[in-house]
Amino acid sequence: MINLNDFRTHGHQLIDWVADYFENIQTYPVQSQVAPGDILQQLPAAAPAHGEDFDRIFEDFQKIIMPGITHWQHPGWHGYFTANNSYPSVLAELLTAALGAQCMSWSTSPAATELEQRVMEWLRDMTGLPRHFSGVIQDSASTATLVSLLTARETKTNYAINAGGFQSQPSFTLYCSEQAHSSIERAVKIAGFGRESLRKIAVDENFALLPTALDEAIISDLSAGHVPLAVIAAIGTTGSTAVDPLKEIGTICQKHNLWLHVDAAWAGSAMVLPELRYMIDGVEMTDSYVFNPHKWMFTNFDASAYFVADKAALIRTFEILPEYLKTKEGDTVNNYRDWGIQLGRRFRALKLWFVIRSYGVDALRQTIGNHIRWATDFGRWVDEDAQWELLAPAPLATACFRYNPHRSDDEAALNKLNQRLLESVNRSGMIFISHTTLGTKYTLRMVVGQTHTQQHHVALAWEVIKTTARKLEH
Ligand SMILES: Cc1ncc(COP(=O)(O)O)c(C=O)c1O
Repeated sequence: MINLNDFRTHGHQLIDWVADYFENIQTYPVQSQVAPGDILQQLPAAAPAHGEDFDRIFEDFQKIIMPGITHWQHPGWHGYFTANNSYPSVLAELLTAALGAQCMSWSTSPAATELEQRVMEWLRDMTGLPRHFSGVIQDSASTATLVSLLTARETKTNYAINAGGFQSQPSFTLYCSEQAHSSIERAVKIAGFGRESLRKIAVDENFALLPTALDEAIISDLSAGHVPLAVIAAIGTTGSTAVDPLKEIGTICQKHNLWLHVDAAWAGSAMVLPELRYMIDGVEMTDSYVFNPHKWMFTNFDASAYFVADKAALIRTFEILPEYLKTKEGDTVNNYRDWGIQLGRRFRALKLWFVIRSYGVDALRQTIGNHIRWATDFGRWVDEDAQWELLAPAPLATACFRYNPHRSDDEAALNKLNQRLLESVNRSGMIFISHTTLGTKYTLRMVVGQTHTQQHHVALAWEVIKTTARKLEH
């Protein structure tokens, strides 16, 4: 067991180790190189009966665990979307762990509640969201979307499903684009609508939802006796960061009295840049909106910013008040346990507060703006090279592309070639990229958004990708 003195000693050692890790992160292969089962077979089948020395545990962490880590904080991280952290965020997380506060009610830690309220107001204003929005931190965009659909379900049925279940309810329908994130379909399933009630609406040549197709689908469902309930629009799809036309979608939702939720999981952080806010034109017509500071705002996982236009509807959907949760403040204060699914809640506002104060809004703008500029450079390099193709517009910091050295139209062969290229690039350990399919095209994705990524890392990534591609041909 560790006593307080050991804690102090090892705590200092660990902070030094973490600082060294950040300093030397480029010496690690970005993607873990282990095979399935490699880690498991080094872990004893049973828990130790007697306590072990911290030194031994930490030695095993370095020997067993570290080789199985994929380094998301590596400057060569260009896969999926980033989940970036930063020094202030990591330090705040240490304090959160030490305080161990469970922030379900105002009274269980007034500072946690009031800081969350203030930090969410900051985020709302920093990203140009409407002043009537109220914010709450959720663990993930997936949860926020589920919370939104549950609230939609209840407001549209006058809270009847909460009371009596789905019996004798009409057949609801919901809408998102073909490019929407899988968390939408999952939320539709979990919220009890059934995945067949989700209509995946066609997209235009830029992979953004087609409003005319949405309107037609709603009208067709109405005439078939369904009850259209909600639309989920994406600002920055996972595949290609496409931006659905919010204003037109909002107008359609108003016309048919539909709930509108916006999934801006990745792109939302970029709204700190006022010149990009055309992307959320129409946001004042939405019922709820989520973005993830844990993706692109230097705040380590998890911290998802969820905003609602009508907080009373949110609370009414989730509130439940057993005797042991009654407090004398009642509803004169925010009790965030009633703003979502979890009862127990971590003190996540602290790391956001540390990050926003340490950077300041100007530096957040500058850093995110740099990511977008460097990704745009990357997109231009791809576009200007006859052997490569840019497969989608890159309005944010993600480029979608493929290798097509001989301008072939054999899609199956190109898909195989690019899949081999992806595997080979990632095996190098120098950088990490991921893929999607756009239409039928296997598509490589290059994301720029890691905290430690600089312009020269993006140039290096392009060199690694090109060199690896050339080698594949021999
Ligand atoms: C557009 C979009 N929505 C939702 C999600 C899910 O985010 P989370 O992991 O916070 O649930 C992602 C993840 O990348 C995403 O890209």
